[in-house]
Amino acid sequence: MSSKAEAFESWIRSSFVQMNTELENLYFAQGDRARVIGVGDSIKAALRDEGHAYVVELLAEGNTGDGFDSAFGVLGNVGLYLGALRRHELTNPMREERSPFREASSLALHVGASLGMAPRFSTAHLATHNKALAGVRKSFTSLRDEFLFIDENTRGILSLQRAADALGRVVHLGVSSPVADVMFETAKHALRDVIRFNDRLIEQLDVHRFFYSVRPYYKPYRVGRQEYRGANAGDFSGINEIDLLLGLCRANDPYYAQLLVDKMLFMLPVDQARLRDCMTRTSLLDELLALRGRHAGADWFQQNARAYLEVCDLFGEAAGQHHNGLVKRFIEGPSAELKEEHLEGITASGPPLPVLLRSLELLRDLRLAADRRDIATRHDDLALLRSSLMGER
Ligand code: HEM
Repeated sequence: MSSKAEAFESWIRSSFVQMNTELENLYFAQGDRARVIGVGDSIKAALRDEGHAYVVELLAEGNTGDGFDSAFGVLGNVGLYLGALRRHELTNPMREERSPFREASSLALHVGASLGMAPRFSTAHLATHNKALAGVRKSFTSLRDEFLFIDENTRGILSLQRAADALGRVVHLGVSSPVADVMFETAKHALRDVIRFNDRLIEQLDVHRFFYSVRPYYKPYRVGRQEYRGANAGDFSGINEIDLLLGLCRANDPYYAQLLVDKMLFMLPVDQARLRDCMTRTSLLDELLALRGRHAGADWFQQNARAYLEVCDLFGEAAGQHHNGLVKRFIEGPSAELKEEHLEGITASGPPLPVLLRSLELLRDLRLAADRRDIATRHDDLALLRSSLMGER
């Protein structure tokens, strides 16, 4: 990392966090916690100007050639800076046609294009690639609830990646292999972990602190002319690898294919490659259904079909928990308290809340293989497979 990149990184890890935390405490102490404009103006100006000085130096240096880690770090830091400016209403894509922060936009565009990623901070910056220094992770604020959110999200993502990895290995072993049992076990274990971490978030995260002081940093913002949606904990390939390998979602479904295309650039290049590879595979469900006619009585079929279905049950449970436990409790619930003027732009992807909720419900139901006739879930196929299991008829 160049000395300029290091200086920016130290600022992001220190004064930036302090200023954001002070501002959050000012907003949160008000009767109307959603009021941001006109509050803490001198702190906001310091945050904007101090960050700008680092950005200008880095832009002049024009160096993205220090290797992936360094460029990825700069992209994350300029992204955190722009995300905070958006949060504090120093920019708002609804009021503007282009970002008022030209230098930060140019830096983000340059580095993002060189990496093959969207020119903004992404989930990986605050989760799987958020390097702790003496135990401290990068964050916007030093609030307990932000660290709880970042840490449990990261644990959940790591566990979903473990499940995806295990299922990917079944593809190479073949779904009829007796050895697949260890990989199905690993996937089940990993999904039970996801459920445990989600439970901890549901129990321990403070609804209001999360809603008013953490979530707003994930709003969409403009880089140059274009608006980029916010990061969300789903911007890694593992979740979609599981969808596709289990066969619960299909890459030729227009809704799901659009979702994959939209999230591609929000993922690390290595995740983009994994996802592309996964899109070319036949799902484990389709393989099991094709083998069912001739081999349903074989031990390997009974064992692997049962294990496959147990993985699906756990994955469905985690999907239900994300929607019913996390999205409803931490976003839909508190949104009902907001005045109309504050409702705009509360989601990370930008659409109005009811539209976002419907689309997340659809994903949940695909993952649950729910008995819905208006969308193409695998409900009937899973029921057919289940009916082949001895002792389940
Ligand atoms: C307080 C905790 C959480 C809340 C309130 C929450 C809420 C949301 C919302 C609202 C979205 C849609 C993005 C948008 O705003 O446009 C989303 C997407 C997503 N989140 Fe979470 N989330 C939470 C934690 C997690 C965790 C721990 C995971 C798992 C690691 C996770 C996985 C996902 C995934 C995979 C997506 C992308 C859509 C999908 O494929 O389902 N989220 N989340």
